[in-house]
This record gives sequence, structure tokens and C-alpha cells, in this order.
Amino acid sequence: MAERETWTSRAGFIFAAVGSAVGLGNIWSFPFQTAANGGAAFLVVYLAAVFLIGFPTMLIEFVIGRRGEQNPVAAFKKLGYEQWSFTGGIGVFSSFVTLAFYSVVGGWVLSYIVGSVTGAYFGDPGAYFGAVSAGPTAIAAHAVFMAITIGIVAFGVTDGIERATKFMIPAIIVLLVGLAVWATTLDGAAAGYSYYLSPDFSTLAKNFGSIVPAAMGQAFFTLSLGFSVMIAYASYLGRDDSLPADGSAIVVINTIVALLAGFVVFPILFATGGAGGAGGGPGTAFVALAGAFGALPAGQIIGLAFFVVLLFAALSSSISLLEVPVAYVSENYGYGRSTTAVAMGTVIFVVGLLPALGTNYLTLYNDVVFKFLLPIAVLLLALFVGWAADREAMDELGRGSSFGESFTTVWLWWVRTVVPIAVVVTLYLGVKAIYTSFQKGVYF
Ligand code: TRP
Repeated sequence: MAERETWTSRAGFIFAAVGSAVGLGNIWSFPFQTAANGGAAFLVVYLAAVFLIGFPTMLIEFVIGRRGEQNPVAAFKKLGYEQWSFTGGIGVFSSFVTLAFYSVVGGWVLSYIVGSVTGAYFGDPGAYFGAVSAGPTAIAAHAVFMAITIGIVAFGVTDGIERATKFMIPAIIVLLVGLAVWATTLDGAAAGYSYYLSPDFSTLAKNFGSIVPAAMGQAFFTLSLGFSVMIAYASYLGRDDSLPADGSAIVVINTIVALLAGFVVFPILFATGGAGGAGGGPGTAFVALAGAFGALPAGQIIGLAFFVVLLFAALSSSISLLEVPVAYVSENYGYGRSTTAVAMGTVIFVVGLLPALGTNYLTLYNDVVFKFLLPIAVLLLALFVGWAADREAMDELGRGSSFGESFTTVWLWWVRTVVPIAVVVTLYLGVKAIYTSFQKGVYF
């Protein structure tokens, strides 16, 4: 077999992984989930989930990917465990479902770019969200977002996207810092920070059953875990790169972007009527931010810049969501790349019509991915690496790393015990939460 292509530099890999991780999950999903789930009580569980469960899980995908040196499904076979290939398959399927609703939200971002230019959302941000979030406008915008994603993947200009990501991530951070500083001057800022940052543990105790699955799902989603994408990326990684060091860098940068988004959204939310004001629903972040831009002196320009940056962050994620299944199918079944991209993208567009028709369906898709598919995928990954796979193969983690053999041992025990137990609890609570929402008529 020919020598496999590797990333041209370590930074290239980190940026590609960060480009996949940083997206709507950080700037849209994170603040809205936090607002809907009790603020700081959610934040505490989320941070624990990111560092204690997400980070070790990222290393699982890295180890399988670099050791397997194949696409996510074939990697298991290469490792000698073909019967586990469906774990990679679940990830590919999750990418499918996720892109269907991700593209709808990407369409919202497009509508907000238009709205920034025309000033349409300045008068009544809530009404604007209502008009563009579901129905014909949402479907049209979803189609445009999907077409851009397909175009990029079909023509394989991923190179350009990689280069763009290197510029975008710093741009996102600078913009968010600027907005967060401005937000300190708002009237409700103090109440916002307190809701965001001082955990009320009675809220946590009372809502444990809904907070835990939401926080864990958000942690996996934002780090792009359980989608096999990190398996695919790590398969191109050089043998001498330190997996734990690269993983920490990715987790830390991704967390900083999400936390910053919270520092922007919460003061704004409380300046405009509290977390309940926007209902804590999927519209929270959009309505709050649009309202803020309406109040800013140069709001139109800042709003435009913000939503353009958000569009790029969404696109760098959506192309990697489409890229992984397309690469898999075209490599395995010998179909052309662009044909596969167009065909798959079209199917995903159709699957996304439902969430474009109502935000209740978007919540359904979101919940199925966050609370069901991702925990199952992560559980299987942990069981595979912890219990099924060869211990010797796991030394892959220490290769090129200064963390030493004891780090691998601790990690492996953690992956054998804590991770599966935590994920099983999450899965149980998640399925229960979906059932409760179903009974309450949240979806239909
Ligand atoms: N992490 C991305 C975000 O926060 C979304 C995402 C989930 C993703 N899974 C992925 C992106 C797989 C690329 C590939 O927006």
C-alpha cells in the first residue's frame, strides 16, 4: 500500500480539528442549552463532561484513527476487530442526521447576514427570528447553505477552507472578546453573570435528570466526538505527534470559544428580560444577539461581521460533516467524489426539510443526536478501547508524547470504568428525557 498522506504540519492538524470542533455548537448551541438548563448549574456539569469524559474520549478516537490508518469503518478491521466496524458506521450516520439540522441553523445565519445588511431585525428581533426560523424562508436558506457545503466538498477545496480556518478562529475569538467587553456595560450584565457563573446546586439536584444528558451531549457534540470525524482526522496524523498534547490544545481552544459566547449572550439576555425572555429555546442566542446589535451604535456593521464569522465557523464544520461520509462512500464503493457529494447532500437536504418547517422538529433531531446517538457511539468506543482491543495497541497513545507510560495506564483505566459508567447513566437519563419531552408534546 502506498504511504499514507499526512498533515503537512502539526498545526495543520490542530487547526483542522479545531475547525471541526468550533462551530454553531459553541456560539449557538452552548449558550442556548445553558440558558435552558439553569445557567451555572449546567455549566459546571458541562465543564466536567468536557474535561473528564470528552478529553479521554477524544484520545480514544485519536488512538483508533492513528493506529488504524484507515477510514473510520475500515480502521476497526485494520486493528483486527471487524465486528466493531458498525461503531464507525454509527458515527457516519450521526453526521448525516446532524448535518440535516445543522444546515437549517446555518440557513438562519444566512438570513441574519441578509438582515444585518437590510436592518430587518433591528426593530423586533423576536419577530424576525419567527419569520426566518421556520417555513419557506428557512427552507430556501437551508437549501443555499447545503448547496455551498456540497459545492465545497464536491470541488475538494478543503485546502482553502483549512487556510481560512487559520484566520477564522482568531477572528472569532477577537470578535467575541470585543462583544463580551461591550456587554459588561449593559444594565442587566450583573444578573447575567450571576446566572451564568454562580451555580445553584439545588437547581442541579432538582434537574439532574435533564441537565446531565444535555451537558454530556453538548460536550460530545462541540468536540465532534462520536461522529468518527476525529478517527478520520487522526488517521492522517504523523507518528511523532503527541496525541495528548494535541488533544488538550483542541479541547482548550474549543472551550474558550464557547465560554466567550456565554460572556456575550448572558449579559445581553438579562438586559433584555432574563433567560426566560427568549424562552431558552433554539432562538435564544439569535434573538439576544440581534437585539444587542440593534442597540449598538455601529450595530449593523458589527452584526454583519459577527454573522459572517459565524457562517464561516458553521461552514468549516458542515463541510467536515459531509466530507467524512462522502469520503467513506466514494472510497468504498468507487463512486466519484462530486457525484457522491451531490447525491448525499441532496438526501441530507430532504431529511432537513422537517426541521426547516418547525423548530419543534429541530429540537427533536437535536435531542436524538445529543441524547441518544452520541452517547451510544461514545459508549461503544470506550468499551472497544477499554475492553475489547489489544492492550499493546493502546501504547499508541504514548507514541511521540512526553506524558509517559503511566499516563496511558491511568487513561486506560479511566476509559474502562468511569467513562462507560458515566455514559450509561447519561444514556438512561437521555432516553428518559426524550420520552418526557415526547409526552409533553415538545416535538409534535
Ligand atoms: N463540533 C461542531 C460544532 O460545535 C459540530 C459537529 C459535530 C461537527 N460533529 C461534527 C463538525 C463532525 C464536523 C464534524 O458546531
